[in-house]
Amino acid sequence: MCGIIGYAGSDSDAIDVLLDGLSGLEYRGYDSAGVALSNQTLHVHKREGELSALESALPKSEYENESVGIGHTRWSTHGPPSDVNAHPHTDDQNRVAVVHNGIIENYQSLRDELTAAGIEFESDTDTEVVPHLISTYLADGIDRETAFRRAIDRIEGSYAVAAVFEGTNTIYAARRNSPLVLGIGNDGYYLASDVPAFIEYTDRVIYLDDGEFARLSPSEVVVTDADGTVVETSIETISWDPEDAGKSGYDHYMLKEINEQPDALRKCLRGRLDELEGTVDLESVPPIQASGAIQFVACGTSYHAAMYGARLLRDRGVSAQAFLASEYDEETIPVGGESVVVGVTQSGETADTMRALRAANRAGAKTIAVTNVVGSSAARECDHVLYIRAGPEIGVAATKTFASQQAALTMLACQLTENISRETIQALRDVPDLIQTVLDTSNARAVAETYEDADAYFFIGRGYQYPVALEGALKMKEITYKHAEGFAAGELKHGPLALVTENTPVFALVTGDDERANKTIGNVKEVEARDAPVVAVTDGRSEVERYADHVLEVPGAGGIASPIVANVQLQLVSYWVANRLGRSIDKPRNLAKSVTVE
Ligand code: AGP
Ligand code: GLU
Repeated sequence: MCGIIGYAGSDSDAIDVLLDGLSGLEYRGYDSAGVALSNQTLHVHKREGELSALESALPKSEYENESVGIGHTRWSTHGPPSDVNAHPHTDDQNRVAVVHNGIIENYQSLRDELTAAGIEFESDTDTEVVPHLISTYLADGIDRETAFRRAIDRIEGSYAVAAVFEGTNTIYAARRNSPLVLGIGNDGYYLASDVPAFIEYTDRVIYLDDGEFARLSPSEVVVTDADGTVVETSIETISWDPEDAGKSGYDHYMLKEINEQPDALRKCLRGRLDELEGTVDLESVPPIQASGAIQFVACGTSYHAAMYGARLLRDRGVSAQAFLASEYDEETIPVGGESVVVGVTQSGETADTMRALRAANRAGAKTIAVTNVVGSSAARECDHVLYIRAGPEIGVAATKTFASQQAALTMLACQLTENISRETIQALRDVPDLIQTVLDTSNARAVAETYEDADAYFFIGRGYQYPVALEGALKMKEITYKHAEGFAAGELKHGPLALVTENTPVFALVTGDDERANKTIGNVKEVEARDAPVVAVTDGRSEVERYADHVLEVPGAGGIASPIVANVQLQLVSYWVANRLGRSIDKPRNLAKSVTVE
């Protein structure tokens, strides 16, 4: 979780680079922020709360000659959000400042050891052991770099760590199971948890691997392995435009990202579909003959996309199942050399999903990452990677990445089963325009205003619309903080119907006019009979509208595209309810974009 930024440059503008960087990392979710500047004397400033609290506490003019520093946005795991617990943390002589992302699992024993040696801790964090360890090595006459490496050697768990020392222009960094990327600029070097932190300064990057160390100064960046041997690195160029990271006139990133869906989907599909030949070509995923089951592992919204993907495969005669990554357990779930395990993860860093993928790798399964983030842990640790190409998603609530995941998984299902119809290709091709029609014509805002005071919101769907019902409810919970549940439409009568009242609108996803649609209409009648308002999310091909108080239209010819298009209506309803309620839409309380703890 949280974010790290570091800059070792030749211009005296470190403070601006650090603050810009922290703002570029805000989307990851945080509860406090801080910076340390080092090349004159060591200055540390940190504040609980939003970045603006830190900025107003910073005597910026005093730091005009500083060209080296590190910054941090914290998402607390050890100790509550507070000024003291915010990073950077320092040793008792203020010689070294450290920022850390992740969890140090053996911190208590290290803390006990350091306390017994007379060191007093200021914070509740696990992180604070690191500067104290470094300091004890410095006191033994060990040089700074070796002291840093020794301290890292002592810690267990997951970490991205960066440190600066008083009066030096060098940053030392290390990572294990937490992301760190280096930026190669014209006037210095950057270090961050993710590229948006420095994309406005440089698009040339080096991804650090687990177990590697980096040393950055204004004149060079050196990457070494655990033994200190210099590692050959390759510089990659990132194609994300800095403009992409702004709100472009929208009130919220979420609304911008909902509106970006047609474009994001076109990018996802580009060059991968051949209508004339009737083929799908995912260059990065070779045709895999899966003799065993195909398993999906994912969390949250990505899990809903995974459910959709698994169903697509089952419809093509392949045994496939979606697992919540946190419940995926190699001891009880049959996984081996004949299995294919697909990790669906927007960020590519979700700890639960990474743990499941690593278990699958250990079991010898073929692993495929379906992710948005180039160079992410999932991308690098799986055998194959399918990028969804949605562009940066800043809002904590996933929107455009869900649509792009669904499109990518449709193509993946086609490729894995070599079962591709012109109908499917055409349906995928049509999705961007159909979503554009929803965006241009939706009455979701009016529906949201009608029901902004509802006690709870229920979403029902069958088949491909069942994951959309779950996703509709998750979005509503995340950004409105109101009670919302998604149900398989057929399950309503087995219990949840008891919750239904005249103040609990039920959103019924009904597309097509087959038996499944008719059964869902039966469920709609059940709630209507209990006086619940019904909002039909429909393509108008069944008679559901007759039983609905409101209709949200799903344009198009139905089929596999309908769930992707229908979901956009639900995204808009949640957005407008949250907007009416004045919620913190892009950064909902208690949530973070990238969940790097189990
Ligand atoms: C979605 O709106 C949520 N923020 C959350 O459920 C998210 O989908 C989940 O944490 C998984 O994230 P990932 O796709 O980056 O792995
Ligand atoms: N475990 C550290 C803390 O609680 C770092 C958390 C983070 O990744 O932001 O301070």
